[in-house]
Amino acid sequence: MYINGLMNPSVGGYLPRHIKVVAVFDVNTLKIGHDVAEAMYADPITAPHFVPPEKMPKLGVIVQPGPILDGVAPHMRERFHCYDETTVSPCNVVQVLKDTKAQILVNYMPVGSFQAARFYAQAALDAGCGFINCIPEFIVSEHVPGDKDWVKAFEDRGLPCAGDDIKSQVGATIMHRVLAKLFLDRGVIVKDTYQLNIGGDTDFENMKSEDRLTTKRKSKTAAVTSVLPYETQCRIGPSDFVPFLEGKKICYIRMNGVTFGGVPLEVDVKMRVEDSCNSAGVVMDIIRVMKLALIRKVKGRLDSIASFSFKHPPIQPPSDVIAKQWVAEFIEGKRER
Ligand SMILES: NC(=O)c1ccc[n+]([C@@H]2O[C@H](COP(=O)([O-])OP(=O)(O)OC[C@H]3O[C@@H](n4cnc5c(N)ncnc54)[C@H](O)[C@@H]3O)[C@@H](O)[C@H]2O)c1
Repeated sequence: MYINGLMNPSVGGYLPRHIKVVAVFDVNTLKIGHDVAEAMYADPITAPHFVPPEKMPKLGVIVQPGPILDGVAPHMRERFHCYDETTVSPCNVVQVLKDTKAQILVNYMPVGSFQAARFYAQAALDAGCGFINCIPEFIVSEHVPGDKDWVKAFEDRGLPCAGDDIKSQVGATIMHRVLAKLFLDRGVIVKDTYQLNIGGDTDFENMKSEDRLTTKRKSKTAAVTSVLPYETQCRIGPSDFVPFLEGKKICYIRMNGVTFGGVPLEVDVKMRVEDSCNSAGVVMDIIRVMKLALIRKVKGRLDSIASFSFKHPPIQPPSDVIAKQWVAEFIEGKRER
């Protein structure tokens, strides 16, 4: 079976249509109180419409106000149409998750949401949900000094968790990793390399604030440098917000290599993608793999799907081909996690 945009059309018999949205939390007043089927088209959306709004059936799921915490940077309050905390109270997230019998909680908070990401990790634990962390906050992949040991907490609660920082279907990270692996396999020394990214969506607008970017840079850089068994000069990260690009992201990758006899080899790649929806197919795979993990009562980290689908997984595989094999083995029940 082949479905456009999915790496695993069927995951242990689960198809995309078996994924059911039961609860959604946001801070945007144009979304809160509306059915998800309407809210998903609300400003500041830049993603292409898979289905025209008038053809989208209501889901019967109303967007609830989540706590703001550090999810909204000061310069993004207006842009996200953020609710006024003096007039709107956040819902009881754990209660909503329990009432709706949610099984898996997916975190897609803006970059730099240290507290807000942890709030939802705790909510998943309290409500008995598996947790998928799509953002560059290190919750599953490493233990941040002074932070709770989240992986142990999920193990103790008997729940699976997967993270951190989702890879896009074909995005800058996977492209850069493939080039680094090519240089390595062909014996070309990477002298230095950079990956500059510009985009026009709210993800890029949020990342104008350099102090929210520390973990994003670390996650993206480690995803590439981990391919190479030696140190190299490397600069990777979001580089600028260009409003008129709207939902487009443009990525420039440069590889400066040295071949036999010290002869230079230079590769420049320019890639242009629709950014906002570029991880949609990937997260649908992760959700279905996590459902299998819940059925199999796997506790703690899901290493196979994490290595394949996240930029900053607990185990960074030397090649994505290996990670893909691990996912296939997990789906077939030949790997524990
Ligand atoms: N889009 C992708 O393909 C992709 C790929 C890799 C990583 N990510 C990560 O996913 C995250 C989201 O990216 P995006 O492109 O969807 O960004 P986005 O700006 O389109 O979406 C962020 C959403 O979070 C909401 N929000 C803000 N604060 C909140 C809070 N406290 N509680 C609940 N909701 C809140 C906003 O209103 C908005 O709807 C980022 O951290 C990004 O790095 C996305």
